[in-house]
Amino acid sequence: MAQAPVPKAELHLHIEGTLEPGLAFALAARNGVELPYASEEELRRAYSFTDLQSFLDLYYALLAGLRTEDDFAEVADAYLARAAEQGVRHAEIFFDPQAHTSRGVPIGTVIEGLGRALAKSEETHGVSTRLIMCFLRDESAESALATFEAARPYLDRITAVGLDSAEVGHPPSKFTEVFALAREAGLKCVAHAGEEGPPAYVWEALDLLGVDRVDHGVRCMEDRELVDRLVADQVPLTVCPLSNLQLKVVDDLADHPLPAMLDAGLLVSLHSDDPAYFGGYAHDNFTAVRDALGLDEETLRTLARNSFRSAFLDEETRAAYLREVDSH
Ligand code: ADE
Ligand code: ZN
Repeated sequence: MAQAPVPKAELHLHIEGTLEPGLAFALAARNGVELPYASEEELRRAYSFTDLQSFLDLYYALLAGLRTEDDFAEVADAYLARAAEQGVRHAEIFFDPQAHTSRGVPIGTVIEGLGRALAKSEETHGVSTRLIMCFLRDESAESALATFEAARPYLDRITAVGLDSAEVGHPPSKFTEVFALAREAGLKCVAHAGEEGPPAYVWEALDLLGVDRVDHGVRCMEDRELVDRLVADQVPLTVCPLSNLQLKVVDDLADHPLPAMLDAGLLVSLHSDDPAYFGGYAHDNFTAVRDALGLDEETLRTLARNSFRSAFLDEETRAAYLREVDSH
């Protein structure tokens, strides 16, 4: 029998990016919404991206079918079932409230629905969970502030805030105020930076937003001083190899900077970003880099350990998960 996948934490996962074509059509039919694709086959043929924006256009379009608390609970539960099969023991899940409130879905519907699936995940799937609320960086700073205020009644269910969507032209500095409010409220902070955007955006995420983790961050490798800072502070970088390949951040997985990042002493872990679109869930990213980059079992285990080291966990739980990796 094949060996079970190594235990790991999923720390870079957009719940909206787990919407598989079958479920997207089922939810749209249930809610009487028409998707801009005639069939699942036609939709799958559209899964060929030239950059981040070409992907985001499709990602936002498919959300039209998601309307009720039950819909959000169903998407999250379907994801957590797949995650468990991939060795995920702990998942810190992004959601994009503005992608739903802009369609008339109340933020409470989104959070209650996701929260329902997350609350029973440990029992049903053996996966512990956290929720991370992301602001869309191509929307205004005022919209992010309004979103944060609308989420205030639910902050006990939210561990961190994040920053995602179209990166270039929307630097972290635009969101200094809302991240300060989030920190004041006791939330952790993360931000996508250095995916398509320059190393300067990673500096801003660190110095202006005070992030605890950087999502992607692969372009830090263009700035020696930045690498030194990230290594010195052991700032976690959540790297998503299959995403980087599909969004043309790298032309070939064999050219991915992951080995150089590990050699530099960066705290790197592997994640799946939008697995319904990029051809693989958490463990699929491990096998893809093993095959393309020739990483050995000990390096893969280090990457799994790093995922728990980088997670928003209490120290006792973290130690227990790390022991699971060691005894795998
Ligand atoms: N939203 C969903 N996936 C994303 C990614 N890879 N980068 C930025 N925003 C996103
Ligand atoms: Zn992402």
